[in-house]
Amino acid sequence: MTFANKMTERPHRIAVFASGNGSNAENLIRYFRDTPDSLGEVALVVCNRPGAKVIERAIGLGVRTEVLSRDSINDSSRMLPLLESEGIDTIVLAGFLLMVPSFLLEAYRSRVINIHPSLLPKFGGKGMYGRYVHEAVVAAGEKVTGITIHHVSEQCDGGEIISQTSVDVCPEDTPETVEAKVHALEKEYFARVVDREFCR
Ligand code: GRF
Repeated sequence: MTFANKMTERPHRIAVFASGNGSNAENLIRYFRDTPDSLGEVALVVCNRPGAKVIERAIGLGVRTEVLSRDSINDSSRMLPLLESEGIDTIVLAGFLLMVPSFLLEAYRSRVINIHPSLLPKFGGKGMYGRYVHEAVVAAGEKVTGITIHHVSEQCDGGEIISQTSVDVCPEDTPETVEAKVHALEKEYFARVVDREFCR
């Protein structure tokens, strides 16, 4: 893909759904903005938590940002026109803590993906998010952890795995240091995997 192609071919428009800090959302926005040989672009950020840091990050980067209640996100007559009006091709969950409604999984079949901060199926499922995951990894004495990028299904953290990358857990590691290692993997791999899978 050349820069000229990016200018002439239809871009692949991504909506990022996030609930909190938004470091992954920011990395995705920056990666696609700064990678001219990819067709991807983050066109929309959807957040369900007013005041979440991701809102400030996305607005600061000039991306349309919608803060919507759980009820609005679960309302097909609200969500489908929003995504259609933005020409969204793919939905990327990046720290999004709600279940994705089934009408979105149907409308975007195989085009809703998530990143989870462990090597699924280990340390996945209800209640396993953020620091809880890394605390559980350390408490279990795991020697290795990592990230899983996977399709989203009706089952929490249960969709088909696209890619996994691991990192060692050392005896001196704490949940905080494990989290930092996992965040480094997220930064290095997430946007590249989204690009490779959907935007070429
Ligand atoms: C990340 O660890 C991601 O793997 C998980 O939630 C966390 C979100 O972090 N799904 P951030 O909000 O992107 O900083």
